Amino acid sequence: MPSFLVSNNGPLTGEVTISGAKNSVLPIMAASLLTDGTCILDDIPRLEDVEVMCELLRHFGSKISPEGKRFIIDNKGIKNMPAPYELVRRMRASFLVMGPLLSRYGRVKISLPGGCAIGTRPIDLHLKGFAALGADISLGHGFIEARSDKKLRGSSVYLDFPSVGATENIIMAAALAEGQTIIENAAEEPEIIDLSNFINSMGGYVRGAGTDTIKIKGVDSLKGVAHTIIPDRIEAGTFMVAAAITGGNILLKNVIADHLRPVEAKLKEVGIRIYEQEGGMRIRVEEPLRSIDLKTLPYPGFPTDMQAQMMALMCVLPGTSIITETVFENRFMHVSELKRLGANIKIEGRSAVIEGVDYLMGTDVKATDLRAGAALVLAGLCAYGQTRVSDIYHIDRGYEAMESKLKALGANIKRLSC
Ligand code: UD1
Repeated sequence: MPSFLVSNNGPLTGEVTISGAKNSVLPIMAASLLTDGTCILDDIPRLEDVEVMCELLRHFGSKISPEGKRFIIDNKGIKNMPAPYELVRRMRASFLVMGPLLSRYGRVKISLPGGCAIGTRPIDLHLKGFAALGADISLGHGFIEARSDKKLRGSSVYLDFPSVGATENIIMAAALAEGQTIIENAAEEPEIIDLSNFINSMGGYVRGAGTDTIKIKGVDSLKGVAHTIIPDRIEAGTFMVAAAITGGNILLKNVIADHLRPVEAKLKEVGIRIYEQEGGMRIRVEEPLRSIDLKTLPYPGFPTDMQAQMMALMCVLPGTSIITETVFENRFMHVSELKRLGANIKIEGRSAVIEGVDYLMGTDVKATDLRAGAALVLAGLCAYGQTRVSDIYHIDRGYEAMESKLKALGANIKRLSC
């Protein structure tokens, strides 16, 4: 299995162009199932998770023509077949096809989802939303089926937690339903806004995306459109930490600064200088850095998807930092791997207490999930000696060409075939 060999090569400097957002492209590809028109999607990141979504759509009969970073998706004549375990187990976001298929055909059957093993990750809120719109839900033999003999009917849905996936799935299910749906305590992530903009340009009616109350009025049909995916704020945040951890100076191109505010705020507290300038955002280390505390929260709080990368940085900050993870249970699997590099971290319930050390020492470590893998690469960039990160298929799921982007900034990183 491929691995990365990383070693310290001093401060990273230069420019990096951020790819389209993984967490936007997946729901938007799923939402293309709402129409039999042709959708043209630009700034597609070529990632393993995107490949899995392509396979899933092709399973239903979608014709997808990739042209570099553009996908042309033609969903004419698709068949609403059960989504098999072989595909769904590879990616939890496969579950996002449920809302659009249910909305369009009144029934959908899908194997239970897989994806990163972070916490328990139930799907009860998605199902609660479908049930509120009139679907009967049944579970059996590892499959979930939602069906409604009549057209789905708009309704009010209150989410007990602002789940990103549930908000997206309910928006898509409501898009072709009869009447109005209101989602309260909805997720406010930028990717929800991107999905809503896509559905609106198809002729749908979604209002309030980016706030905690979203209103959807169902329409009779939606048309194919062209849409450009927003930049990936988590990839951008990861490169911000790469600049910080190596004492570097990096210009991030293709970013939306507003989406990065929560990460920017915490990095500024650490002592990193961040400037918006023409063409992007510059991240520069100009002064000694200091420890901080942070808590992950739904947007606009600090993203859980940046928690592991920030922990890698905290390992080498002077003093004590504390991270409290409130979004996922059991999202500290990277701790034992960071400790192998010499980090001093203790877990106390949902918090990690990180005592900064003078240096990390390279060794063999394993990516346990996507962001954990990124954190280990970052740690390897500042550790003495060589760090070999194995199981990097996790990283390939969500980072486009990570090693070539890092190499262009001066990093010493090599992909090994085993
Ligand atoms: C999405 C992102 C993922 C990110 C996460 C939180 C995609 C493809 N993935 O995942 O990168 O880490 O948001 O920002 O966009 N929950 C329930 N019941 C449900 C659904 C979720 O209890 O029905 C809980 C989960 O267990 C978790 C929390 O809600 O503790 C957040 O999950 P959610 O926001 O749904 O994450 P995803 O949409 O799976």
